Amino acid sequence: MSKHDAALKAQLATPLAGTPWTTIGGRTLSKYDGKVRDCYIDTERGERIIVVTDRLSAFDAIVGLIPSKGQVLNQLAQFWFEKTRDIAPNHMLRTPDPNVMIARECKPLPVELVMRSYLTGVTSTSIWRAYEDGARSFCGHALPDGMKKNERLPAAILTPSTKAALGDHDISVSRDELLARGEIRPEVFDRAADIAAKLFAAGQAHAAARGLILADTKYEMGLDRDGTIVVIDEIHTPDSSRYWYADDYEERLARGEEPRSLDKEFVRRWLKNDAKWSGDGPPPPMPDEIKLEAARRYIASYELVTGVDFVPDTRPPLPRIAAAIGAA
Ligand SMILES: Nc1ncnc2c1ncn2[C@@H]1O[C@H](COP(=O)(O)OP(=O)(O)O)[C@@H](O)[C@H]1O
Ligand SMILES: [Mg+2]
Repeated sequence: MSKHDAALKAQLATPLAGTPWTTIGGRTLSKYDGKVRDCYIDTERGERIIVVTDRLSAFDAIVGLIPSKGQVLNQLAQFWFEKTRDIAPNHMLRTPDPNVMIARECKPLPVELVMRSYLTGVTSTSIWRAYEDGARSFCGHALPDGMKKNERLPAAILTPSTKAALGDHDISVSRDELLARGEIRPEVFDRAADIAAKLFAAGQAHAAARGLILADTKYEMGLDRDGTIVVIDEIHTPDSSRYWYADDYEERLARGEEPRSLDKEFVRRWLKNDAKWSGDGPPPPMPDEIKLEAARRYIASYELVTGVDFVPDTRPPLPRIAAAIGAA
């Protein structure tokens, strides 16, 4: 139970599944629907209107609609973009609605910058699976023998991931493997890597001060019109990051138990262990109780990270957002 349960239950009936618009401010814009965000691209102004929906993606598929998830994600990204703007420029321009971010349109780098401090993961391509199968090197980083699952790595590492087409799975690569593909210049990659390391260190320090462990995270970056590297997409949200509670981490590690997590891990575990689904075929229907528990965790991540109470916007999302951005 949480203080938000009544609002969340009401929202089960009116989640933001997606948006149907063709014009914004009277102009026809092209639209790209990602797994989580609907994007309207304003080429003329060099802006991207990003509507963060309540869709939850796991194992590279959309597995359910979680009350308030879009708002949590957007407002957490907003919090972190404001907090980290001294470290690197980011794409955020305005947030005219709790679910909307208007961003500077950039040319995305063809790589996801994944930073990790812990030996963990559940998917077949995770660092933990590779280690369990005997690998002692991951994306060019040597891994010590004798490590346990969820243990802290000797140092934070960058494990770049290639961006797969929709439906495919991303793969982790070393710097050399990435550069050999010829899609990104070494100096651009190295600059992006430096930004990722600094953002991650700042994120981990803030999380630690709030009783959390930011175990790993993923950044997307792009080039703006001037060729400057800009942090795009989202940052340090529970979708792009693994957050654990710090207080009982050591104890649980010693007992061989999984850390208490605040992120999508809960849903991944439900899918895998209870619904016996890990990405093949259509996802199982998600019971309301699982949706509510996921929502509680997303909201807890917002409140713990920001220190501010979350205020769910319970107005019907489509007309509200349409009014805020002039969409039709
Ligand atoms: N400022 C930006 N400029 C260009 N593309 C962006 C920007 N911010 C985010 N994107 C892209 O918009 C999409 C966001 O929607 P998302 O649901 O995350 O999609 P995906 O399923 O591709 O991950 C992503 O493809 C992301 O790379
Ligand atoms: Mg994405």
